[in-house]
Amino acid sequence: MKIAMIGSGYVGLVSGACFADFGHEVVCVDKDEGKISRLNANIMPIYEPGLDALVKTNVDAGRLSFSTDVMQSVKGCGAIFIAVGTPSRRGDGHADLSYVYAAAEELARAIDPGTVVVTKSTVPVGTGDEVERIIRQTSPDLEFAVVSNPEFLREGAAIGDFKRPDRIVVGSDVEWARDVMRAIYRPLFLNESPLLFTSRRSSELIKYAANAFLATKITFINEMADLCEKLGADVQDVSRGIGLDNRIGPKFLHAGPGYGGSCFPKDTLALLKTAQDNETPVRVVEAVVQANDLRKRAMGRKIINALGGDVRGMKIGLLGLTFKPNTDDMRDAPSIAIVQTLLDAGAIVHAHDPEGMEEAAKILPDVVMADSAYSAAQDAHAVALITEWDAYRALDLKKLHAAMAGDVLVDLRNIYRPEEAQAAGFNYVSVGRNDTKLG
Ligand code: UDX
Repeated sequence: MKIAMIGSGYVGLVSGACFADFGHEVVCVDKDEGKISRLNANIMPIYEPGLDALVKTNVDAGRLSFSTDVMQSVKGCGAIFIAVGTPSRRGDGHADLSYVYAAAEELARAIDPGTVVVTKSTVPVGTGDEVERIIRQTSPDLEFAVVSNPEFLREGAAIGDFKRPDRIVVGSDVEWARDVMRAIYRPLFLNESPLLFTSRRSSELIKYAANAFLATKITFINEMADLCEKLGADVQDVSRGIGLDNRIGPKFLHAGPGYGGSCFPKDTLALLKTAQDNETPVRVVEAVVQANDLRKRAMGRKIINALGGDVRGMKIGLLGLTFKPNTDDMRDAPSIAIVQTLLDAGAIVHAHDPEGMEEAAKILPDVVMADSAYSAAQDAHAVALITEWDAYRALDLKKLHAAMAGDVLVDLRNIYRPEEAQAAGFNYVSVGRNDTKLG
């Protein structure tokens, strides 16, 4: 089938490349000419493991191409995916749908009869109705269907998630449109990935509900971690102990500095705005958003407390700045609030990140970027591990300690065992474990 992807950002590009890999003929469209010409030269706009190879294979096979021309690209397509950005609107936290609606207006004049328009962008409930209205207004007699098909891709694991999804959600009551979606995803049935058909509104809500639930799990275990520290319990044991209950499940129960990234902060906020607008507040989600916001700065204070409370003039080395490993994405990364807290307290911050330093330097101009973990630690009074990159999992702790002026290691991802850090001479502080031997 011929498929067009409107928007060649993270979601559009990964989805487009994977659909091409299934054997479909895909054109990824974007307004940004620079991005399209770089893609044509196989230069990826984002860091995602395996993406450049996947793009190259499918471009070479003639199944994947890139274009800035919507009109031309959508001709003859069985399905057109809208995968443009839906950032938080400045001021009120609602999702900004202007890119989605602009795409719908452009499509209204361009599509062939019998086309399925699929919203892949994360959009509030009712957006599909509005997209349909926009297209119908311009082309009242055109036969088309608007379907919701949310993505559940984790950055850093997006290709695997696309090809082996837990489920595919398709929101549409139109039978012929469901058939088109079945044909698009047929290769995945071989992997026995369930295809769940719902109404369009349910599908739109599923995406927000899934992300809000996952954010709740993380926030829950983070609060348990705080409690563990007070009670002398170990959050990793608590996590294992509850996660073995099938009704709870073991995933998304790792305590840390709070969730960040391009989805959870934005989607939780958008969901609670929608809920408030409909006079049905989702109080659990409100509490999650608030607790997570407070947590990021609290992690900065945790580092300051580990240093005795006064860090004026002290050097602190941070390891990992991106919101999670295997990405260069700094959006809503907990490191931003942590750095701010440390700088406000008068500390001097050096940092290292395997992929994120270029992005981080734009957001955090007062941080000195180091070329290795050890040089970030050089003469530092404390080192704080913020993002659990593999490169930080097997650090030579003795070497790290020897480079430093002080002996505090704050491990916000619990990747070291307290005994091994202490054996290397560290005053080791982690999250929700009874390991704090200060002083
Ligand atoms: C998420 C969803 O997983 C995905 O389904 C959705 O489509 C987009 O949002 P992503 O933002 O790429 O994906 O990252 P994810 O791996 O889910 O992590 C989100 C944040 O939660 C990170 O900051 C991570 O460090 C944090 N996290 C995750 C924890 O702190 N503890 C955990 O147990 C899991």
